[in-house]
Amino acid sequence: MEILVGDYAGFCFGVDRAMEIAFEAGESKTDEVYTLGPLIHNPQAVGKLNKVGVGLAEDINDVEEGTIIIRSHGVAPEVIEKAEKKGLEVINATCPFVKKAQEKAKKLKEDGYQVLISGDKNHPEVAGILGFTNEQAIVIEDESDFSKVPNTDKIGVITQTTQSISHLQNLVNYLLPKVKDLKVHNTICTTTSQRQEEAAQLAEKVDLMIVLGGYNSANTNRLAEICCENGVNTHHVETAEELQTDWFTNIKKVGITAGASTPNWIIKEAVKRMEEINEEKNQVETTEGEEKTEELEQEENVTTAKDE
Ligand code: F3S
Repeated sequence: MEILVGDYAGFCFGVDRAMEIAFEAGESKTDEVYTLGPLIHNPQAVGKLNKVGVGLAEDINDVEEGTIIIRSHGVAPEVIEKAEKKGLEVINATCPFVKKAQEKAKKLKEDGYQVLISGDKNHPEVAGILGFTNEQAIVIEDESDFSKVPNTDKIGVITQTTQSISHLQNLVNYLLPKVKDLKVHNTICTTTSQRQEEAAQLAEKVDLMIVLGGYNSANTNRLAEICCENGVNTHHVETAEELQTDWFTNIKKVGITAGASTPNWIIKEAVKRMEEINEEKNQVETTEGEEKTEELEQEENVTTAKDE
């Protein structure tokens, strides 16, 4: 059985960076260390952080002292100000690509544009970007939000980094004939689309796809959907222990992809487990083959004996 692991499977640059920052803080700090919200949507990785002393705070009001780590999604500037006023040490692990979107939104607002954010209203990254416009940007999720766009000459558009290009394209098509001065910043991060395209290509080549990542990770669920859409048998699991031997019966090629919040060690463990399953399969086939040969030899002997 051939095991093909996608080059873009697993942590993106921003999550990898945030994890490293958090591990380093947990190992080096003597006071309390918290991440503001789960650093990533992966329970196993959050568990590992816990082991090095990095706790989880859902709200800045829950932390009285120590260090607070801002995750890769970023936060509104007021959140950082509030933490600093409380005397907390702030480690800002906002992904540089998200930071770029925040800065562009701020600049558009300062230059007098009505800012639109093409993204998901409930996503923490969008909440953070909104803060950089004094909460005055309008979030556009889909066509149903187009009616919220005010009648004005100057409009600036920013995108959530994980937004799909088709959403942005729809919005721009709607705005183009209406707005005199339209500025569009495509701040979509290419990592997501590269991972998705690669998963689709892998799915076409293999007999089975394994998608690794947290069940609460939206981008991992999307990867599983993409693989299914390509018609290949797909299993979404969080860890190697969930892999079942019978999934690999008669499988010659298996593909692996993983969400942006899936650590490398989970991918490695899954590959190792699949190699073990493959070995078990080969042993069974060899044993069955040997038994068959023995049976045939015995049959031959019987025939020979009868003939005699
Ligand atoms: Fe950053 Fe792109 Fe990941 S914006 S957090 S590298 S998906």
